[in-house]
Formats: sequence, structure tokens, C-alpha cells
Amino acid sequence: MKIPEITLAKLNPKKFIAEKAEELRSAVGDGSAINALSGGVDSSVVTLLAHKALGARLHTYFIDHGLMRAGEPERVVKLFRTFGVKVVCVDARREFYGELKGKTDPEKKRQAITDAFYKKVFGRLVRESGARFLLHGTILTDVEETVAGIKRQHNILTQLGIDTRKAYGYTVLEPLINLRKPAVRRVGSALGLPASVFNRPPFPGPALAARVIGEVTPERVELVRQATAIVEDVLAKVSAFQCLAILHEDRVTGIRNGQRDFGCQIEVRCWDSQDAVTATPTALPFKTLARLGRLITEQVPGVVSVTYNITSKPPSTIEAI
Ligand code: XMP
Repeated sequence: MKIPEITLAKLNPKKFIAEKAEELRSAVGDGSAINALSGGVDSSVVTLLAHKALGARLHTYFIDHGLMRAGEPERVVKLFRTFGVKVVCVDARREFYGELKGKTDPEKKRQAITDAFYKKVFGRLVRESGARFLLHGTILTDVEETVAGIKRQHNILTQLGIDTRKAYGYTVLEPLINLRKPAVRRVGSALGLPASVFNRPPFPGPALAARVIGEVTPERVELVRQATAIVEDVLAKVSAFQCLAILHEDRVTGIRNGQRDFGCQIEVRCWDSQDAVTATPTALPFKTLARLGRLITEQVPGVVSVTYNITSKPPSTIEAI
């Protein structure tokens, strides 16, 4: 079924918010809904929209899967507290790393995250909360890329023919499904979210796991987390669509303290793009690239090589898995 688009030009944010709030209220009725907030644009917009519509009947969780960027759980919980949204932080690191253990195939890793998220952690939370509705920040681009087989987004279930009521015991509500990112940002602004949230560069659902090639372990994620913090800091003033660090599986020979060191490789990517469907690498000054190379090898333990991606999407993709 083709999902109609509400384009940025056609969007009336106030009307959209009022209509979606009404739809949510009538779908949920006297019951309650549950949602997971990651702190990204889509889930932040859904959370505030649903909070306005449902108030205390919305139960918002931050699932700490141990794959987030540095300081994210605390930052997100604190921000939403200022909007009166009580976000419960759930430590789910054991479940996610348990599912990911030993997996190296990209699709199996994505599937492991889906399973840990929906079957284990969310299934349990939904059962415990008694909520029959799950709110999701799926947007039109997620659906198109998944249906086209470009990537299996972990938040697309209904579109793949999965009956969530049968499989997981709840109905998924997707109030942003008719929008693309620029329209979602406009709705976020109209809801009163700060620009630092609604203008946030995209971040993938599988989080840093999408940037670890090979097995996703807490130790390997920590390397990518540290490299990501450096990349985001150094490139903060570059108006790129997205920038990221990837940990490669292959090791390479380097030299540290006069000794040969068979160490890790980090790849930096920085993208210019309108909608993430196509993208080109940002023409960063060589001085900036050299600075990234120096900081990452100095500060991230065991890294002896830093490279910069010079491939466009397609054939590349923005993330690594
Ligand atoms: P790719 O790697 O497919 O990424 O070129 C396109 C855009 O989508 C983000 N991305 C995801 N977002 N769940 C999400 O919510 C996912 O599984 C996922 N995978 C990629 C990516 O960061 C980029 O902006």
C-alpha cells in the first residue's frame, strides 16, 4: 500500500499536531501507550506529540542498550523532564549484547537488535505496563528504503507484513509515517522542541552498532564511542548532513613507542546530503582531516590508522552496516 506524503510545502504544523493528537487519543481510548525515546529527531517529536495528546497515559522509556553515544542517556532524560515527560531509563545492555554476541553478518546484527528490542525488552515492558499501543517514529523514507530492500530499518514491521499484535502482543502507531525529515523537523519546532533537538543530525536506530564492522562487543563499541565524540567535536562547525566514525574489523600494522603495533582502524565519514537517499562526501580541508587522524590515534586506545571515506551514496551507504 502506497503511503501518501505530506510534503513540507503542504504541511500545516499546528493542524498536523492537532489532528495526530486526536487520532492518538481516539486510538488509545482509555488505555495506555508506550514508546521508546532515543533522543533522535523522530522519537523526540513522537514523544512530545504523544505526551501532549495522552499525558499520563503515555509511558516513555529510554532503552539503554549500551550502544549510545557518550552521555546520551542522561542528556535525553534530563531534557524531557523539562517538558514534564517522565522518562524511565531501562538498563538493557545485557540483553542487547547477549543477542549480538558472536554475530558478524550485518543483517544478523540488525535482526539481533530488533529481537532484543521488541521481543525481549519492549515485550517485557509492554506486558508489565499493560499498554496495548506502541508509538513509533517511523517516517516515510524509512518505509521506502526498507520496502526497496536498500536497508532493513529496525523500526519497520507492519510494512514488512509483520503483524505486531500476533508477533509481539501490541499495535504499532506511527504518527509521522506521512512525513519526510524536513517536515518532521518543522513539527518538532512547532511542538516547542529546542533547535538542538529538531535540527539534530540523523542517528541510526541500531546506534553505534551500525558503525562497528564485525562483532559488536562493549569494548569495540567503546572505541567507536570515543572516536565518534572526537569526530562530532572537530566537525561541529562543518554544516554537514551527518558525520561519523566506523571501527573496522581488519587490523593493520602501526608503530607505537618504537614498537610494531598490530592495531585498529577507524574510518571517518562526513556527508553532504538533502535526504540521506543520495549523499556525497564533504570536501573537508586536509588540515581538519589530519587533526582528526592525530586526535583519534592519540586518544582512542589501540587505533593506529584513520581513513576518510571518499565514496558517494550509492554505491556506499551512510552507515557501515
Ligand atoms: P544508510 O546507511 O542506509 O542510512 O545510507 C540512511 C540514513 O538512515 C540512518 N539509518 C537508520 N535510521 N534506523 C534508523 O532509524 C536504522 O536502522 C538506520 N540505518 C541507517 C542513517 O544514519 C542515515 O541518516
